Amino acid sequence: MQNRDWDHVFNFAKELVLDAGEQIRSSFKTKLTIDFKENPSDLVTNMDKQIEKFFIQKINEKYPSDHILGEEGYGEELTSLDGTVWFIDPIDGTMNFVHMQRHFAISVGIYHNGEGIIGIIYDVVADDLYCAVKGSGAFVNGEALAPLKSTEIGEAVLGINAVWGIENKRIDSSITSSLIRAVRGTRSFGSATLELAYIASGKMDGYLSMRLAPWDYAAGKILIEELGGKVSSVNGEPLQLLDKQTPVFAAKPGLHEYILENYIKK
Ligand code: IPD
Ligand code: CA
Ligand code: CA
Repeated sequence: MQNRDWDHVFNFAKELVLDAGEQIRSSFKTKLTIDFKENPSDLVTNMDKQIEKFFIQKINEKYPSDHILGEEGYGEELTSLDGTVWFIDPIDGTMNFVHMQRHFAISVGIYHNGEGIIGIIYDVVADDLYCAVKGSGAFVNGEALAPLKSTEIGEAVLGINAVWGIENKRIDSSITSSLIRAVRGTRSFGSATLELAYIASGKMDGYLSMRLAPWDYAAGKILIEELGGKVSSVNGEPLQLLDKQTPVFAAKPGLHEYILENYIKK
């Protein structure tokens, strides 16, 4: 881990996240502007844009040599992970934000030369702040989270979007359907970063998506790994943070290997 005052960076990032959360809560009283990006399910609002710009402006002022990759594109187009890179999803779960005004989160993952250092996930409406600094433990609202232990598959709750359980272009649905049958239950909360925070805090045991972007999982990966869990590609290979669309499989230790060997790679 590179010599830099990471506690200082963490405190700065945490203040930005809390400030952004307050901006989002205040926006509930105002009218949202809603557009869609690639398709009608791919929503973006004025708040997604406002919050990303807020992060970028503040980080650039404070740490001008750091790099920023944000979902809404106001950051940089990165071709390398050299130096410090902030992966920012200003609102993860925009559909929930628009339809439900809850179950969405701000996600900030800070990496140095490709190594995960700081992960912060803020469930804005629940006011739950999940965070980790590599080597210093992971916390929710200041309380230390317990190291993750394996769970039997029959007792596991798996986060998975229904789309991966039916015929789709990215995974053989016979694999996902037997996995869905084997676990105790499945959940789909509509915010990948929150689902990863739920694994870190022991509320769920695994999460599988065939298409995530780095800002969706960068923070959650740091939290889960800090607690001994595993976050990889769907074949168990390391994730490539520069890939904009990648499969992600996260789970408690032991369960991760078990599912890979007995379901996915079988
Ligand atoms: C989405 C959410 C959703 C996941 C999608 C993401 P967004 O992020 O995390 O749960 O299934 O793949 O794109 O667009 O709400 O930031
Ligand atoms: Ca997202
Ligand atoms: Ca988003």
